[in-house]
Amino acid sequence: MPRFPADFAWGVATSSYQIEGAVAEDGRSESIWDTFCRKPGAIRDGHTGDVAADHYHRWPQDIKLMADLGITSYRFSIAWPRVQPHGRGPGNGPGLDFYDRLVDGLLATGITPVPTLYHWDLPQELEDEGGWLSRQTAQRFGDYAGLAAQRLADRVPMWITLNEPFVVTAFAYALGIHAPGQTLMLDALPTAHYQLLGHGLATAALRAAGVRQVAITNNYSPAWPATDSEQDVAAARAFDTLQNKLFTDPILRRAYPDLSALGIGEAGLDCVQDGDLAVISAPIDALGVNYYSPTRLSALPGSPLPFQMEPIPGYPVTAFGWPVVPAGLTELLRLLRDRYADVLPPVYITENGCSADDKVAGDGTIDDQPRIRYLDGHIRAVHDAIVSGVDVRGYLVWSLMDNFEWSEGYHQRFGLVYVDFGTQQRTPKSSFAWYRDLIAAQRT
Ligand code: FCB
Repeated sequence: MPRFPADFAWGVATSSYQIEGAVAEDGRSESIWDTFCRKPGAIRDGHTGDVAADHYHRWPQDIKLMADLGITSYRFSIAWPRVQPHGRGPGNGPGLDFYDRLVDGLLATGITPVPTLYHWDLPQELEDEGGWLSRQTAQRFGDYAGLAAQRLADRVPMWITLNEPFVVTAFAYALGIHAPGQTLMLDALPTAHYQLLGHGLATAALRAAGVRQVAITNNYSPAWPATDSEQDVAAARAFDTLQNKLFTDPILRRAYPDLSALGIGEAGLDCVQDGDLAVISAPIDALGVNYYSPTRLSALPGSPLPFQMEPIPGYPVTAFGWPVVPAGLTELLRLLRDRYADVLPPVYITENGCSADDKVAGDGTIDDQPRIRYLDGHIRAVHDAIVSGVDVRGYLVWSLMDNFEWSEGYHQRFGLVYVDFGTQQRTPKSSFAWYRDLIAAQRT
């Protein structure tokens, strides 16, 4: 493995609903995911996050695992329904105490905590009032950010506002695959604006609480046309606009990209009010990049979205069926650098990893060679990007441990640590030792 800069951050990432469990403890209110999981057919095999990896009770053990791994950064998310159960008003003491202890525990171990304020678990009460289709939710999110920062900002240097707002708009409000399961197709567009506005208002609240480093995490994917026909090239361009520009241009360029290829005119964004883009484009200090694979697209004339996804032949696939294309990560990082040039802040890879068909051997070990190959290829791809001048400051594996993978329930395992969901026993996989050795070698 080539050498990374000495101060490069090495870490892992998780999120609250996927690992915490304890959904009805210490004053936590219901989130949209608690509700969605009860909807028949929404989640594979009816799995729920009620217990998940029981991290709410086992966090000291999980910090110990991170210490063994030797990471320098841990990205987790704060559950809004735990710290501000009604989505407004005063904080919930026991909920805030949980993150307080977690932060102290990490710092005592020499690990920098990197909280994300929103990794998809919206308080159900706010969804009942319109969720991300309502401008009010942006305001509420700003207030919640201030409340969380008041408690933790003295010890937490870098904060991430939103996780993958594109997925929220697309999966949660357009296609109905994620909570709250709305199927509005292009009418989901206001959720993009209100999330971005929420990001801007949260940024202001974090600054007011003294936070020095604010970031947002987007998921990006190089958009490959299926053929070089004009139609497929246009389809790929339309997808690129939706996934790679819609949630980045307003922040870094203070303007929405041209959405006309998607059949969206000015009226499609008539929720944008004077002054909103100034709030949204407040300077940020880092861009979080989640990358899993490229997307290949062909034209689909006459449909509300002018593209459809095509398989990417010729590459290995993960257990999820996602193609393994490490060079896509280098391509993406160069694209961001070329596209945003001077206004691109330093980049952190805030998620990258794969699900694998992990098998526990007779001796209790889990030899996850496909995951090692995936991580090895992608970490090298990050190095290639750094060599070509992209300012990448850190790399965080998704995920520390197996967890609740949204609509897939517990069927997709992404962890460096295997979790037996019957006993909650944690067993580091071969990839854990591999990543530990890599970090140790980089740090000597
Ligand atoms: C990302 C999510 C994360 C996890 C990975 C596999 O889109 O941010 O929570 O589910 O995918």
